[in-house]
Amino acid sequence: MLHLQAFLRDKKVCSVAATTPYGVAKILRRIRFDSAKVIVEYGPGDGAFTGKLLRRMRPDASLIVVETNDLFVSKLRKKFHDPRLSIVHDSAENIAEILAARGCESMDCVISGIPFSQIKLSVKRKIMGETSRLLTRDGTFLVYQALTAPRGRLFTKKNLARTFHLASETFILPNIPPLYVIEAVPMPHASGSPQSREG
Ligand SMILES: C[S@@+](CC[C@H](N)C(=O)[O-])C[C@H]1O[C@@H](n2cnc3c(N)ncnc32)[C@H](O)[C@@H]1O
Repeated sequence: MLHLQAFLRDKKVCSVAATTPYGVAKILRRIRFDSAKVIVEYGPGDGAFTGKLLRRMRPDASLIVVETNDLFVSKLRKKFHDPRLSIVHDSAENIAEILAARGCESMDCVISGIPFSQIKLSVKRKIMGETSRLLTRDGTFLVYQALTAPRGRLFTKKNLARTFHLASETFILPNIPPLYVIEAVPMPHASGSPQSREG
């Protein structure tokens, strides 16, 4: 009900229901939980991924979730009390300042449900550009989107390909709506990416 309420009030929510547990499990399979120290979630909504990320991540890892919708932020603050978690009421386009305020220089994994085909081009490009700049060299940007408009999907992929190498694309059909998931990684030989935390 909260998702539906947020959807009716806020066009940036873009989905009437949270991602299903099946969809969440399929997407989380792509995260290397044994090595990821800084995980960031853009657009956590009411926390469909957040609890599962906390359950699986390392005890010394941090999770920063960045959400624009105030209903979802209140819900997340009531639902999760974990010292590894920061809940930030802001837009993902400000990720550089959000990380700096928490003493983080880079991110090992970013998972994003922000509806890229629905937001302004300048905002989308800023989010993608900053994410690419702040991702470690062996980091991953996991983008899941509703598989509704074929043009929206092509456009999102084209924008991602400006700053990332698109390593894989998978489809999750048993979800409402069905999803596509892009695994975007730093371009081979990218010189600007921060060093791996491991190396
Ligand atoms: C499709 S919902 C996904 C919600 C949740 N992650 C899930 O899978 O159920 C997209 C979410 O992105 C949030 N959002 C949209 N634009 C954003 C932005 N610029 N920065 C952070 N969150 C944003 C919306 O408020 C909404 O919670």
